[in-house]
Amino acid sequence: MFEDLRDLYQEVIFDHNRNPRNFRVMADANRQVEGFNPLCGDRLTLFLKVEDGTIRDASFQGSGCAISTASVSLMTEIIKGKTETEADALFKQFHEMATGKDHDLQLEALGKLAVLAGVREYPARVKCATLAWHTLDAALKNQQQSISTE
Ligand code: FES
Repeated sequence: MFEDLRDLYQEVIFDHNRNPRNFRVMADANRQVEGFNPLCGDRLTLFLKVEDGTIRDASFQGSGCAISTASVSLMTEIIKGKTETEADALFKQFHEMATGKDHDLQLEALGKLAVLAGVREYPARVKCATLAWHTLDAALKNQQQSISTE
């Protein structure tokens, strides 16, 4: 797997994989959605505390590959304090970046999330990077059920 990651922003990804941020159950979460990648069996649970349209807190539990763990760790850091509208806009930007449809990428706008731009070169890795974000999308739509990348 490390060869696959060679061209990615390895240091940030490895750091977030080894020391995931916001890796905890949130007792007072008011949104909780499970994301599942059936291709590999990896799953995560995303917890959000949303008040007055703003994400006050975000955390996760679960186990996944280095990219999915780094992606959800980075995501929980970045969406904290954002409004639901802002988080939804980030989801769309991230999805464009990871799936490679946008050939005129504005990586600066994505800040730290740009470390995952390299997955667009590795189709098998796109779902690893977007699992967290599809789970967030379901949470923002207030869907409480599990979501699957397939
Ligand atoms: Fe399972 Fe990456 S291999 S999410």
